[in-house]
Amino acid sequence: MAVTVTATPTGGFVGTVNISLSGLPAGVTSTPSSPFSLTAGNSQQVTFTVGPSVPRANYAVSFSGTGGSASSSVGLTLTVSGVPLTAATGNFKQQVIYQIVTDRFFDGDTTNDNPAISPGLFDSTRTNFQAYWGGDFAGIQQKMAYLAGMGVTAIWISPPVDNIDVSATPPPITAPYHGYWAHDMMCLEEHFGNASNPCDWTAFDNMVAAAHQNGIRVIVDFAANDSNPNDDGEFGILNNASQPFASFTSDNPPPNNFFHHNPTITDFTNLYQLQYYTLDDLADLNQDNPAIDQYLKGALLQFMNHKVDAFRLDAVKHVTWGWEYSLANVAFTSGPSFLFGEWELSGTTDSVYPYAHNFANHSGISLLDFALANAFRDVFGNPSTGDFHEIDNTLTTEANDFLSPNDLVTFFDSHDLPRLLSVYNNQNRVNEALALLLACRGIPVVLYGDEQYLHNDTNSGNDPYNRIWMSSFNTQSTAYSLIDLMANLRQSNPALAYGTSMQRWINSDVYILERQFNSNVVLIAINKSESTPYQISGLFTSLPAGNYSDYLNGLLGGSGIAVSSGNPNNNPVTNFSLPIHTVAVWQSASAATAPQVGSIGPLVGQSGITATIAGQGFGSSTGKVMFGTAAATISTWSDSTVTFSVPTVAPGTYQVQLIASSNANANTVPFTVLTGPLIPVTFTVNNVPALAAGSALYLTGKVVELGSGVVTTDAAVGPLLSPTPPSYFIDASVPAGVTIQFQFAIIASDGTVTMEPSAPHSYTVPTSGVGSIPVNW
Ligand code: NOJ
Repeated sequence: MAVTVTATPTGGFVGTVNISLSGLPAGVTSTPSSPFSLTAGNSQQVTFTVGPSVPRANYAVSFSGTGGSASSSVGLTLTVSGVPLTAATGNFKQQVIYQIVTDRFFDGDTTNDNPAISPGLFDSTRTNFQAYWGGDFAGIQQKMAYLAGMGVTAIWISPPVDNIDVSATPPPITAPYHGYWAHDMMCLEEHFGNASNPCDWTAFDNMVAAAHQNGIRVIVDFAANDSNPNDDGEFGILNNASQPFASFTSDNPPPNNFFHHNPTITDFTNLYQLQYYTLDDLADLNQDNPAIDQYLKGALLQFMNHKVDAFRLDAVKHVTWGWEYSLANVAFTSGPSFLFGEWELSGTTDSVYPYAHNFANHSGISLLDFALANAFRDVFGNPSTGDFHEIDNTLTTEANDFLSPNDLVTFFDSHDLPRLLSVYNNQNRVNEALALLLACRGIPVVLYGDEQYLHNDTNSGNDPYNRIWMSSFNTQSTAYSLIDLMANLRQSNPALAYGTSMQRWINSDVYILERQFNSNVVLIAINKSESTPYQISGLFTSLPAGNYSDYLNGLLGGSGIAVSSGNPNNNPVTNFSLPIHTVAVWQSASAATAPQVGSIGPLVGQSGITATIAGQGFGSSTGKVMFGTAAATISTWSDSTVTFSVPTVAPGTYQVQLIASSNANANTVPFTVLTGPLIPVTFTVNNVPALAAGSALYLTGKVVELGSGVVTTDAAVGPLLSPTPPSYFIDASVPAGVTIQFQFAIIASDGTVTMEPSAPHSYTVPTSGVGSIPVNW
């Protein structure tokens, strides 16, 4: 970075002006170095060189000049951001995601505020919460230094695709400022990019390039469930790159219909309703239609071609589950990516929770962690009744149920929920929730504006009053500094990204959580009480013996601890007190003496796709990645990240073994090799005998995609759905062009299996598009 300093004579300077620089962090040098002299009226270019270990942050730098009796100073903010990104990654665990509702963030281009092709949807007073307010791609681009200075390494933007051009009722304006009312997924919303040409990607590409330049990944919110309201506005219409494509009101007859025409979902425990009924009033896309299948996958791939790094998949609970496996497969076949879905649920006792973790474990699509979000909101959003056991129990349950809990995407605020500050107006609690979120297992999401403590409590802060205008970009707020510190810790201490979670001390007000990855340890202690300080005794930790200062430097009231030697991984901590509203973080990171794997991504894919292993201690020379006896072809190898092509091996689940060039073996990680690229197929079975209460029908087969012949509710595909018994059906993604054998099985509530009496059916999966195979029981 270079700046020009001028000794302006009008400021009173005559002769020689001596200029000194202050505020540069260690590791940043200037040329010329400070101090230097300038003749009044002259300018000097000053170049800053940022060394490799300077923490990401905003640094206030000032130039002070004195010449004779005159003096003057000028300041600037030096933002040290991440290393520019050159390649997409299959490992997201080290990232901190910042969620942006594009329309509400920053107006970087006023020419697209009120486009001629969709006039009258803009409210310049920003008082109608249902109107566009001016935020756009250019605005996000212009705030990249603000984001990088907060340590953010990924942004999740609201759906950027082209939305309906007219207002829905009620008047005066009900606009799709949120992005969830697409009318053309192949183009972009003109309010966010080019006002007169939605299919111009320039502004979007510029934003992505700026993000990557600052070490920030871009996550696009992708809604595959529906187009737009079926009863209002444009009545569900869907275009393809500005050409008419699918009409909800004059749809084809089944089975070639573009949309489902079912009633609105009323029973959120009914799996058929969830996937095939209408969510609110949104025209529900039929993903089994080959044109819709191709369109949605094409739209996703187009974003990947525009260098989007990852996707937040909207409403995955409401899209055909089996089809979504093939969507994920298309993404992973195209290149490294990370996918996480919105599977809304109340907690781990929700009736759809078992389907959620089964979906995450088999599809390769991770999930937003709604169970933990609700626990956070209960704990921090209550003046006194919240109990940390709820968070702790959720972490324990999900650790047992999810194959990769560190991939869950964690949050406590979102564009769909009242902000925590609207629930309980207490900034300490936001700080405490943020600190725990950023220390907790999973990939944290910070909702835009939380770092500025924004909230609007109209209608209890419910949507749309949670989608506030981002009125301030203050880099001095406590939350901004906190996020920056914790995001830096996520980069420097792998315990946060890859570690285990262990509760070390708990009561309803206090939670002390330890994260550990080999010899890397982070210990966080929180007292959320408004009134009770706690004396902490009997605390043990894996931190090695020694004195630890608070990593947050007292930002949230924390102080140091002393750890003495005890049993391995169980060192006693000298008693200390935790005042009210305190968060302290203590940590120890050390270089690995042997290779240690913390991540593989994706979790599933066929031979030939690129996968990423991450961790530490891999060494700088290329070693090996083994699938049984087959070595993968390595694409890149560094001490912490290896990318490789999945070798040609028999399909199945492998314990993948990384071997450093020193021949040291790492711990293994599971990866499921598919038989081939996936095609979505509708399997229908007629004349099924009546099922006993508690029993359900499943699809099974010897291929890995159908559970490798294991007939359990976890391994087989199902349960099958039955809007019209005795016919049942299910969508499953199966290997393209392969002849598979399949059978149906009834699994009773106690696990007892009754196989379909006939021999397995045979089916040759199409090589492209979608498939359908009806059989009789
Ligand atoms: C969930 C999204 O988060 C919400 O904002 C949206 O309205 C619905 N899905 C429908 O797309």
